[in-house]
Amino acid sequence: MSSFRRLESIPVGNVLGESILWDVLSRRLWWTDIQAQKLHCYEPKTMDLRVFALPERMGSFGFVDGADGLVCAFESGIALYTPENGALRWLYRPEQGFSGTRFNDGRVDRQGRFWSGTMVEGDGAGEAESIDADGRPVRASLYCVTRGHGRRVFGGIGISNSLCFSLDSRTMYFADSPTRQILAFAFDPATAEIGERRVFATTGAGVPDGSVIDAEGYLWNAEWGGSKLVRYAPTGQVALELALPVSQPTCVCFGGEHMDLMFVTTATDGLEADAREREPEAGNVLVYETRFKGVPESRYLPESA
Ligand code: BGC
Ligand code: CA
Repeated sequence: MSSFRRLESIPVGNVLGESILWDVLSRRLWWTDIQAQKLHCYEPKTMDLRVFALPERMGSFGFVDGADGLVCAFESGIALYTPENGALRWLYRPEQGFSGTRFNDGRVDRQGRFWSGTMVEGDGAGEAESIDADGRPVRASLYCVTRGHGRRVFGGIGISNSLCFSLDSRTMYFADSPTRQILAFAFDPATAEIGERRVFATTGAGVPDGSVIDAEGYLWNAEWGGSKLVRYAPTGQVALELALPVSQPTCVCFGGEHMDLMFVTTATDGLEADAREREPEAGNVLVYETRFKGVPESRYLPESA
């Protein structure tokens, strides 16, 4: 088989589909439409789609170990949340009271911590439009929640994206999208301390959006504005590119029974009318069968009871 076979898309017409994850336990696909303030859950076997209205816009989330709910990065903070009944418990709201920033990309690391970063809304470049609780201009930050306890990791960010962890947990990947760079940080899995940073890759036409690590340790990145997925070797070299029928892919995950299906969220956000016409698939979840495989998503470890 060639590397990719395009299957039928999931026709959801999202405004800003994002943060797509496959749950190996329930065999369901979850993703958020940030601007529509909705969470989606899809079961490929039955083609059953459920859409949950959310209390706030949600940028990213993770599955929870031993529980049904999700750990969620809502606009104003991180919470445990059960979509089926709306149960919500805030864990950490470091930017509550700020205006002009919101939580965006995030992921559970392989040790069960939830990482998520905020973004300055708009193009991520304007500082004056985002204001902290004391009225001072701010930029965005990266945060980490370990068993219910949150901390700020670093700041000075425009738009947090691309969070993922190497298979050996020695590297954390992160992008501040407007810089066009994906950074690789030395990572200590035991302490969650990050060390030296290096530029892992620089995008061309687009900016780096969501990333995921495959079973060979290569990083797949959805290039927003670049109409493609790029597969990078652990050295940062481009190993392969997949051209997409949409200009704004946002995130990618592997799933399916054999972990060889690739799901890509996309956005219509900001597209002009002529682009909308050229890109009828914009907003849908694109599905590919591939010769690559993913690894199961790690689950968040909540506070011990
Ligand atoms: C953000 C969008 C942004 C895009 C490209 C996404 O993660 O949610 O608001 O436009 O990245 O930087
Ligand atoms: Ca994103």
